[in-house]
Amino acid sequence: EETGKSGYDHFMLKEIHEQPRALRQCLRERVNEMDGKVSVDVDFAPERVQFVACGTSYHAALFGAQLLQQSGIPAQAFLASEYATATPPIGDDLVVGVTQSGETADTLSALREARRRGARTLAVTNVVGSTAARECDQALYVRAGPEIGVAATKTFAAQVVALTLLALSTGDGDRDAIGALRKLPGNVQAVLDESTAREVAEEYVDSDAFFFIGRGLSYPVALEGALKFKEITYEHAEGFAAGELKHGPLALVTSETPVFAVVTGDGEQARKTIGNVKEVEARDAPVIAVTDGQSDVERYADHVLRIPAGEPRTAAMLANIQLQLVAYHTAAMLGRSIDKPRNLAKSVTVE
Ligand code: G6P
Repeated sequence: EETGKSGYDHFMLKEIHEQPRALRQCLRERVNEMDGKVSVDVDFAPERVQFVACGTSYHAALFGAQLLQQSGIPAQAFLASEYATATPPIGDDLVVGVTQSGETADTLSALREARRRGARTLAVTNVVGSTAARECDQALYVRAGPEIGVAATKTFAAQVVALTLLALSTGDGDRDAIGALRKLPGNVQAVLDESTAREVAEEYVDSDAFFFIGRGLSYPVALEGALKFKEITYEHAEGFAAGELKHGPLALVTSETPVFAVVTGDGEQARKTIGNVKEVEARDAPVIAVTDGQSDVERYADHVLRIPAGEPRTAAMLANIQLQLVAYHTAAMLGRSIDKPRNLAKSVTVE
């Protein structure tokens, strides 16, 4: 097993570093830089889309649903384990199961329920020939390569890129988006090479709890940042929609609870999240801004985790890389069982 780690201390760290390659594989022969068009080899022209997924894959589904909505396709993400008890009307909807392994019982049973109700189904998965791939009408492979670490890293990155491609495949060509996706593997490498996440981890390792906020596409990234953190550090971590902070979670914020704020671009969303950052700063909470430097969030931050400036979709993906690294380094300092966290399994085959 040691040799399989290629010199890294953990599979998780190796897989974090494999992300540039995973993303290149995911993009290979699917994008045309000349006309900005995308082809993903699935028949995808739905009236509406329902996503079903669990865990990290659910965060990818939330991201995908937002992108489809932006492309004019109504879309909603459901937790697979809740889908059976509150199955929404299906009509002509396409039901998309996002599942790294293709074997998660909750997701398989939500997909089966959708099929019973007459829906067409698509599996977005990493594993060729998995149960989800076989049972669904179609499959879109994310091509991240095998992932050993229980905490999903490169497969989340590839899921998000695959779902972005799916959303782009419905349009007439978007050269800006394609250009940003082509640059993404190199930009991920730059984040990996230059990240100061380790210093941030060192500074805050003894905190009471860790909060993550973002809005828009940065909201699923905040949720995923918190999930990764709790999975491998065993510390209390929560992700919130930045605007929801004032509706309750703010009561938890103290000088001992660092808040990671994902702020990209300099538009309305960034401006509003900076307002939320000021609210936590006023409660003396340390603020770590994960930002592309487009807004002035750094003025309110104790630390900055910088990402290359770019396009909103890929900026959110780059912010996620920084949060993976913070979780990893914190867990390493705490001496946790990073590749096999207590009580967790890579693939959960019971409901
Ligand atoms: C387990 C894993 C998570 C994963 C979830 C969904 O709980 O520990 O990392 O996100 O299953 O897995 P899937 O294979 O369906 O993406």
